[in-house]
Amino acid sequence: MIIVFFQYLALFNSDLTLFIGRFHPLLVHLPIGFLLMAFLMEYLSIMKRFEHLGSSVPFVLILGFLSGLFSVFTGLLLSDGGGYSLELLNLHKWLGIVTVVLSLAAWLLRVTLYHDPLYKRIYRIVLAVMTFTLIGAGHYGGSLTHGPDYLFRYMPEPARSWFGVQEEVPEQLALIEDLNTALVYQHVIEPIFVARCQSCHDPDRTEGNLLVTSYTNLMAGGESGTIIEPYQKDNSELYRRLLLADRDNERMPPRGRTQLTADQIKLIGWWIDQGAPDQTVVTELEATLEIENILLSMTPAGQHFFDRISVPHASIERIEAAINRGFRISPVAEDLAFLQVGVQQSKNEITGEDMEFLLPLAEQITWLNLSRTTLTEDAVSRFSEFHHLTRLYLQNSTITDGALAEISLLKHLEYLNIYGTDVGDAGLAYLEPLEQLRSLYLWQTHVSRQAIADFKSTRSALKVNTGVDRYY
Ligand code: HEC
Repeated sequence: MIIVFFQYLALFNSDLTLFIGRFHPLLVHLPIGFLLMAFLMEYLSIMKRFEHLGSSVPFVLILGFLSGLFSVFTGLLLSDGGGYSLELLNLHKWLGIVTVVLSLAAWLLRVTLYHDPLYKRIYRIVLAVMTFTLIGAGHYGGSLTHGPDYLFRYMPEPARSWFGVQEEVPEQLALIEDLNTALVYQHVIEPIFVARCQSCHDPDRTEGNLLVTSYTNLMAGGESGTIIEPYQKDNSELYRRLLLADRDNERMPPRGRTQLTADQIKLIGWWIDQGAPDQTVVTELEATLEIENILLSMTPAGQHFFDRISVPHASIERIEAAINRGFRISPVAEDLAFLQVGVQQSKNEITGEDMEFLLPLAEQITWLNLSRTTLTEDAVSRFSEFHHLTRLYLQNSTITDGALAEISLLKHLEYLNIYGTDVGDAGLAYLEPLEQLRSLYLWQTHVSRQAIADFKSTRSALKVNTGVDRYY
């Protein structure tokens, strides 16, 4: 009866009902507190020492009942908003209602028939049962808002096994073994959705009527229709939501949840602009240099250096000095001391003196981008001092064969881009000692096919990009 009445009320104005409903998660703490307190006081009062507590129980109980009633009311309004797992929701709802009914029953027994030993016993049993249903309602409520494993997620390991809690799937983004065989959706895009969106958009909690659990579901869209317009990221609801301000209610993932990184958002935008394909291999798609770098950083070559070595953070003064000299500097990733360095647009020439400003940061600099610059001989002679470099971008610069001799000393170098330069076969020969090299861009250079084939023959992990057939 009561429920029918509330649900009827819920039909009136769905904004208002949701507004009131959203107080529910706040309000429920009141009956939980009061009713647990009533239980505790009653059972303690059995002991002589705490006898005095007994007389306050009816007061605490009635507070528990009233706040509980209000919680049920707001809860029913909230459930009208939808989007919860039905099974969990039903359990939570009915345990909550039963708790409130039992608290009323307990209160009535307490204030009327407490003097009768039989009823007193019944009353105490009702109180105990109520406490059980209360805990159950609270637990399922927590599961609704925070996901089923909320309570146990951070439980220490031995206890996890005793309680039979399953190992959590690590949230780390999938590594791409090989860009030439990786499928763009399955290996690049889907892992992002699984890690950051699935908890709310799976069959348990289909928020916004959207499932991200498969390509087909994703493309089918949600409440508001399709959310991905192939080739048009800016017309795609999904992408739009990723870019909204933090405080915007439509922002995904919602405030308070682990957000996507800038790189992940770029990858999703790129994928949509490439037609949001399903089975396509990553290297078959067109990618800007920036996207290629992001993809590369997901391969073992792009990752293992940072895992192995840690460096202290560079001093802000040194970074500022280099920025004032015309460089662009930023961390390679959040929380990492490693730096990536580029050149500001106005700067066309790099001299030995310019490099002096980077040298104090040599420990930290691991990506250096001096593409499109004129490099003086002095500048080139300092290259070997940046011994933590893993990526060096020198495309369209004035780098020559001889300069590659300096580069051959950078033993961590994994990525070298010298496309559009005068480098020839002699220069390539200098790179022989670079054992970590995985990506080499030789498009529009004078390096011969034969030299590339020879160079590659001893290195199975190396990808050489010559522009024509991209990788071979
Ligand atoms: C904490 C839970 C939560 C997480 C995590 C989450 N969402 Fe949502 N999402 C919601 C809710 C609730 C709605 C419905 C309300 C709304 O439309 O804003 C929604 C709606 C949407 C919609 C609109 C569906 C439609 O058709 O109206 C899109 C698109 C979306 N989410 C994408 C994402 C993406 C992409 C991610 C991961 C990057 C994500 N969500 C993560 C809770 C979540």
